[in-house]
This record gives sequence, C-alpha cells and structure tokens, in this order.
Amino acid sequence: MTNQRPDLRILPAAAWADHVAETLAGRVAADPSLCICLPTGSTPGPVYDALPGALATASGSFARSTIVLLDEYLGLPAGHPARCDAQLRRMLVDRLDPAPARLITFDVDGDDPAVACIAFDVAIDSIGGLDLVVLGLGMNGHVGMNEPGTPADAPTRIIDLAPSTIEAARGYGADPAPTRGVTLGIVEILAAREIWLLVSGGRKAAILAATLNGPVTPELPASLLRDHQGLRIIADAEAASEIPA
Ligand code: PGA
Repeated sequence: MTNQRPDLRILPAAAWADHVAETLAGRVAADPSLCICLPTGSTPGPVYDALPGALATASGSFARSTIVLLDEYLGLPAGHPARCDAQLRRMLVDRLDPAPARLITFDVDGDDPAVACIAFDVAIDSIGGLDLVVLGLGMNGHVGMNEPGTPADAPTRIIDLAPSTIEAARGYGADPAPTRGVTLGIVEILAAREIWLLVSGGRKAAILAATLNGPVTPELPASLLRDHQGLRIIADAEAASEIPA
C-alpha cells in the first residue's frame, strides 16, 4: 500500500496533444516491438492527428508493433462507423505508414462475445502481454468500458454500459445506441508495465481531481489504477485545474 502520488504531467492545452504524440513516438522508436493498447473517443483524437508527424520526426514506426483496441460496443454491425474498431482505424491505424505489425480487436461479430473476450486475452498473452495501456478518462470515472461499480479484480468481459456511455455512442452515430460492450478488464490494465491516463478539457477537471485525491473505490474505476507503479497521468491545464496544490 502506498500513498505515493502518481507521475502527473500537466501541459498547456495548446501543447498537450503534441507532447503526448511526441512521447508516444519516442517510446515506439526506442522499443519498436511494443504492444500498446489504445483508446477511441474524443480525447485521443488530436494525439492521433499529431502521431504520424511525431513518428517521422522520431524515426519511429509501428511496423513491428502490436496495437490492441481497448474496448468495443456490442450490437453494432461490422463496419459501422461508431464501432470502436472502425474509429481506431479511421483515427489512427489507416494513417500509419507502414501499418502496425498486428492489430488485436474484439471479434464481436461471432455468436458469443464471451468467447471473443477469451480470444482477445489469449491473443495478448501469446505475444507477451501489454507493455503500455493508454486510456481516456470517462466523465463518470470509467476507463475503457469499466463502468462505476467495477471491482479491482474485474477481468476482460461483457459489460452493461452506463447511461453516459450509451449517450456518447449515440453521439458517434449509433442509433439505436448499444447498451452493452466488451472491455479490457482492470486486471489486465493493472498487469501492463505502464499505464498512461490522458485527460484534456475543463469538463474532466472534477473527475480527475476525484481520481487523484478521492477514495480508491470501484465507484470511480480510474482510482483503482492509482497505486500502479507505472501510472502516468498526462493532463492539460484545464483538466488539471481542480487538483489540489
Ligand atoms: P472522451 O471519453 O475521450 O470522448 O471524453 C473518454 C472515455 O469515456 O473514456
């Protein structure tokens, strides 16, 4: 048990995305066979926009790397633009040249999403596990689709989505919106060597402050990551504005 404060980096909003992209590109350049789990959503968008340029500057590439998708909706057909796999391809993977060596996603088009969860974990294990998990922070404190009420020992699994997550899916063009999803579990996130929690914008200020300074509780799943030795939080100044000095 430790109260050690995690590695918290606060950047001006205008510099935040470039900082994250440059740091990520530097990491891939230093360790080309990295296995990295990446999120979708609005937070990483500007980071992914900057990443191809940052990779070129760092002389890095994903050509030997594995990219793992963090989570996926259930009930949307293959190719639906709101699907997380479609979002990640559009936002990043299709823009990487050379393409990543491997892309691991959830096969939610089969009969049984529970089987897809097992296959997803097996695929990650078969290449030696996750080096780095990059996460956004939900307005309700979720990470991936680990919604409030998720215990620290929750594995990769099927989950009922919180109302705000369902609304977000509607915002990505899913109507009717999905009510369930599959997500990398808290157990598997905590098993990664490094975790980067990306947080931007003033609307995340209260939940980031609670993540860092409130109780460690399943009601705020991001708080469960707080004692991980490899946790780094990269926030912009607006998102960090309510963290006590
Ligand atoms: P956002 O979502 O990046 O779209 O704000 C983050 C999340 O829900 O994990």
